[in-house]
Amino acid sequence: MMETMRRDGPETLAASTSLAALAGLVERYAKREFSIAPGGHVQTIAPGHYTVSGLSRHVRLGDFVAHKSATGTRLGEVVRVEPEQVVVCPIEPGDPIGIHDTVIRKGAFRIAPTDNWCGRTINALAEPIDGLGPLLQGDVRRSISNTAPPSMTRKRVEHGFRTGVRAIDIFSPLCLGQRLGIFAGSGVGKSTLLSMLARADAFDKVVIALVGERGREVREFIEDTLGDNLSKSVAVVATSDESPMLRKMAPMTAVTVAEHYRDKGDNVLLIVDSVTRFAHAIREVATAAGEPPIARGYPASVFTELPRLLERAGPGVEGSGTITAIISILVDGDNHNDPVADSTRGILDGHIVLERSLAEEGRYPPINPLASISRLARKAWTPDQEKLVARLKALIHRFEETRDLRLIGGYRPGGDADLDMAIKQVPVIYEVLKQTPGERAAFDAFTDLANALKAAAMGNQPGAAGTRPRG
Ligand SMILES: Nc1ncnc2c1ncn2[C@@H]1O[C@H](COP(=O)(O)OP(=O)(O)OP(=O)(O)O)[C@@H](O)[C@H]1O
Ligand SMILES: [Mg+2]
Repeated sequence: MMETMRRDGPETLAASTSLAALAGLVERYAKREFSIAPGGHVQTIAPGHYTVSGLSRHVRLGDFVAHKSATGTRLGEVVRVEPEQVVVCPIEPGDPIGIHDTVIRKGAFRIAPTDNWCGRTINALAEPIDGLGPLLQGDVRRSISNTAPPSMTRKRVEHGFRTGVRAIDIFSPLCLGQRLGIFAGSGVGKSTLLSMLARADAFDKVVIALVGERGREVREFIEDTLGDNLSKSVAVVATSDESPMLRKMAPMTAVTVAEHYRDKGDNVLLIVDSVTRFAHAIREVATAAGEPPIARGYPASVFTELPRLLERAGPGVEGSGTITAIISILVDGDNHNDPVADSTRGILDGHIVLERSLAEEGRYPPINPLASISRLARKAWTPDQEKLVARLKALIHRFEETRDLRLIGGYRPGGDADLDMAIKQVPVIYEVLKQTPGERAAFDAFTDLANALKAAAMGNQPGAAGTRPRG
């Protein structure tokens, strides 16, 4: 007993307290943010990028570095690593950079989203740009270049939902966790359709990435179209005048915010307008890094980054929620075989094709129901609906293929029962598919269609107005 008393005397106690304090300090400084960051010096400076010596052994491709100058610290991304130097693209070009300035490694770019981000608009660096004060930070810091969950651990996609856009709910219905592309030339109606889809009420959260948009459209989209959904939405914005690095990061930041909500069990809608501008930004960055172009001026990294980004959307692992991604793709010069359009079409679970000719006819949203496909439609339709849609598509096809013939008077009604049916019903179907952005979302598009067809059939009894006499 005396022995123990002696060992636990005041000196021993003091020693163990100091040891505990030391252990605490070791634990604290072992954390990544306290590690000694390797640094280097600026060697050459060119428009859009600069090179740094002394960092080659310490950084990985895609790591962030901080450039220290007289005016402050600015971030850049490592886009090329060579034995003697690394090439860095500054996040915001135009920052003064001098030869021999110090550059230190930062590692992956991380953000810490929380529920408090809902209702806020942020930039690609997750800084608030809506003037509503500072943004609260969550406990978990996530790298914006995370990878998708392993495919075998992910839930299956099986629950359909209503978008409220009749043309989509009838012909290409969607499922939670699906990834859908909207393909169209410029000014055909992509952003308007996205804004209509953003109002779907099947989601707990909506995350929107506006990439390379005009500044004017950003406020319009956020304030006018989100409406009631604003309080559950986060918008990540990189306008057309921002640097290619910020435009490249915006969708990655958005998908990282969406992943945070998905992992908490929410069903999230992720909207990216437009993926083509994301691809353009990668092209600009890669060109600065000296990567050779392989298809229509696009370097290979565009075709590796696109699937990396889009694969992160989709269902989460068991027990988490889903990310349903709806993205827009600009098809250059209305050429639907443009390399970015081609490669995204292969990655996605469906595509909606908007046609300029339909927009010119005033048939908005200008969705071509025959060219649009939802690869998960079968899970959203009932067997009866599936049969009905196949029939509707056949009628529309018949109507369209005989359009020229009928215009020159080459068809006399009565010759073909199917075509007669198409001539009667397709204009009604087209009328049902028309929808303005302000129009209340359709509760059940099939009921609307059935009612319209019934009304038309009643009005088109023999002798009624609108019936053409049989020739
Ligand atoms: N559902 C609709 N109802 C009525 N008008 C529409 C509809 N959709 C689009 N429009 C018209 O088409 C115009 C262009 O639409 P929008 O800006 O959505 O096209 P976009 O494809 O996103 O263009 P950009 O390629 O320039 O981004 C709108 O200003 C509007 O006048
Ligand atoms: Mg647009």
